[in-house]
Amino acid sequence: MKILVTGADGQLARSLVERVQGRSGLELVAVGRPELDLAVPGSAAAAIGAIQPQLVINAAAYTAVDKAEDDPGLAFRINAEAAGEVAAAAALVDAAVIQISTDYVFDGRSNEPYAEEAPTSPLGVYGRSKLEGEDRVRAANPRHAIVRTAWVYSPFGSNFVKTMMAAARTRDVLNVVEDQRGSPTSALDLADGLLQMAETWNDAPDRGVGATYHVAGTGETSWFGLAECVMSECRKRSLPAAKVLPIATSDWPTRAARPPNSVLDSHKFEQEFDFTMPEWRQSVAVVVDRLAAG
Ligand SMILES: NC(=O)c1ccc[n+]([C@@H]2O[C@H](COP(=O)([O-])OP(=O)(O)OC[C@H]3O[C@@H](n4cnc5c(N)ncnc54)[C@H](OP(=O)(O)O)[C@@H]3O)[C@@H](O)[C@H]2O)c1
Repeated sequence: MKILVTGADGQLARSLVERVQGRSGLELVAVGRPELDLAVPGSAAAAIGAIQPQLVINAAAYTAVDKAEDDPGLAFRINAEAAGEVAAAAALVDAAVIQISTDYVFDGRSNEPYAEEAPTSPLGVYGRSKLEGEDRVRAANPRHAIVRTAWVYSPFGSNFVKTMMAAARTRDVLNVVEDQRGSPTSALDLADGLLQMAETWNDAPDRGVGATYHVAGTGETSWFGLAECVMSECRKRSLPAAKVLPIATSDWPTRAARPPNSVLDSHKFEQEFDFTMPEWRQSVAVVVDRLAAG
């Protein structure tokens, strides 16, 4: 199966490129800007037409949650309109599409982990644009899956784990928000889950198609809990570590509101594709190890 991944330099695309190594039956081509620019109508269709994949994973997105509040036009162009165009272009070459979406489609008022069918109600432009992207993908290509993930970190790009490790090199104390809960997700684990989907579709092309899945690290914590875990892993490796103090969201105002609870329940994916995401702490240790090794 030939897979085209958009957003070649992003955390997820780079993780997919790494994790596909050694898997027989899957060939992966990652394409990024300027060759495939979702801001430009027709750009994705041209790349998909040239590469003729059997599966497209749309990992590219406008991911700057706060900036999106001041640039809704571009956020909706990339996360909504272009997502629909990618799905339609995939359909034209008989390819399935996996659209990567987000926990920020929820408002976070529930006290329970979110299942796929839970009502959506995004709090900001980023979440609204990603939610519209989901709908456009569903409408454009029946051979789709929507995969919502959350709190993504990896050895690549910029993310919360790398930010905490960098901050600990220059500061003794880090103040981190405690009243937002979620499911930290290693992009490497998410890549493994997506590749398991692709392998399943190699043998059973209709398995679990046309559905929405949550795929996030097992367990839950707050940003404070995640930061403490990162620091503890740093200490074990004699890397610079800081003391972490809990603060409230109101002490750390951001342009876009965040859901207070966006823990995702990944059981549906686990059952359909026989893949369990690792417990979040284990994966933090793996990524800190990678970053420690440089
Ligand atoms: N990061 C998270 O915490 C998180 C949480 C939930 C869901 N997600 C979703 O997971 C997916 C992967 O996220 P990630 O963490 O891998 O994101 P990322 O590291 O921010 O990468 C996003 C990629 O999208 C590309 N991109 C942005 N605008 C583009 C455009 N106009 N045309 C083509 N590519 C463009 C970027 O390209 P450049 O390198 O050229 O800028 C970048 O490579 C996204 O769909 C995101 O919405 C992420």
